[in-house]
Amino acid sequence: MNYNILSKLPDVGTTIFTTMSKMANENGAINLSQGFPDFEVSTDLIELISSYMKKGLNQYAPMSGVPHLSNAISKMIANTRNVMVNSENEITVTSGATEAIYDIITATVQKNDEVILFDPAYDCYDPAIRLSGGTPIHIKLTQPDFSIDWEVVKNHINPRTKMIMINTPHNPTGAVLSQKDLNSLEDLIKDTNILVLSDEVYEHIIFDDKAHESVLKYPNLRQRSAAVYSFGKTFHATGWKMGYVVAPSWWTIEIRKVHQFVTFCSNTPVQYALADFIAEPENYEYVPRLYQEKRNYFTNLVKESNFKPVKCSGTYFQLLSYNNVEELCHLNDMEAAEKLTKKYGLASIPISVFYGDRQDDKLLRFCFAKGKETLKKATEILCKI
Ligand SMILES: Cc1ncc(COP(=O)(O)O)c(C=O)c1O
Repeated sequence: MNYNILSKLPDVGTTIFTTMSKMANENGAINLSQGFPDFEVSTDLIELISSYMKKGLNQYAPMSGVPHLSNAISKMIANTRNVMVNSENEITVTSGATEAIYDIITATVQKNDEVILFDPAYDCYDPAIRLSGGTPIHIKLTQPDFSIDWEVVKNHINPRTKMIMINTPHNPTGAVLSQKDLNSLEDLIKDTNILVLSDEVYEHIIFDDKAHESVLKYPNLRQRSAAVYSFGKTFHATGWKMGYVVAPSWWTIEIRKVHQFVTFCSNTPVQYALADFIAEPENYEYVPRLYQEKRNYFTNLVKESNFKPVKCSGTYFQLLSYNNVEELCHLNDMEAAEKLTKKYGLASIPISVFYGDRQDDKLLRFCFAKGKETLKKATEILCKI
């Protein structure tokens, strides 16, 4: 017998995050590659989960989320964005933002639909579009600030354009969209049926007193947008895989149809605990300060090296250019990341993997969601090269 399947994603291999983390482990390297924090989750939150488990809340949750949590999310959105969201029919709790993105795309994209995304783009977008038979249209962000050129976007819009995917604050570049950007998007699609998927998983990780520009704040966008969030990012608990989608009720109905057959529901005791936890705004209001301090600490130390930081206004990632690093500048970014890991003991992510055409800008992404000691050791390595 020769069992075989025709791959739906023939060009997709193991993700770069797995590859680089494995390389980091094998070489005993400091791992600033994958985006996970190395400090502890709040003990209050852990105790809340444990108490709900002990109370026996260990069976399936309602498909769209525990109402206690949906209500708390709705209040948090009212508090942070001054927007009213209906907790019953506009919020769906998912097993991480990745599931939310997959559910939205699967519910929405039909064969031959085009979906615009901006490169460098988070790696789960493109495959999900293709699995639904859609065509990803990759538009490059404009350097050096990785902004969106809305004129270029306009030139790519046609009757097949189904959706535009935005991500702010942006992984991997740390760029954030401004009010002007959201107004341009509003203008651009106002006479079309184009939908928006807005990946806002880093909504609370934004710096220098910048306001997070959520699609939820723009009524003309909100009526046609699905916005995606991740508790894993906000509460440094990426392993819990807890997120949610906010979308208008007509779209939520379809998103839930997919969600119910992908996971059906998400972790019950964690949902109860998160509901209690986010009811206290101070539990999330400190997050921008925490990461801004880490960004400043890391970039100040990097100044002593030949690596050049790209301006980072949000997320917990810092891009560094190695164009001026004699030992690395002749290498492509994959080779540079490999050398940095194997020879110097510091793992990062090469940015070319986030481009549809694998463009190489000689940039590496470093995750600074780490303790000071780790960041110090990492920058000592960078200063040595
Ligand atoms: C931009 C972006 N979107 C979505 C996700 C996925 O989030 P989650 O871990 O909640 O699935 C990530 C995680 O790194 C991300 O960086």
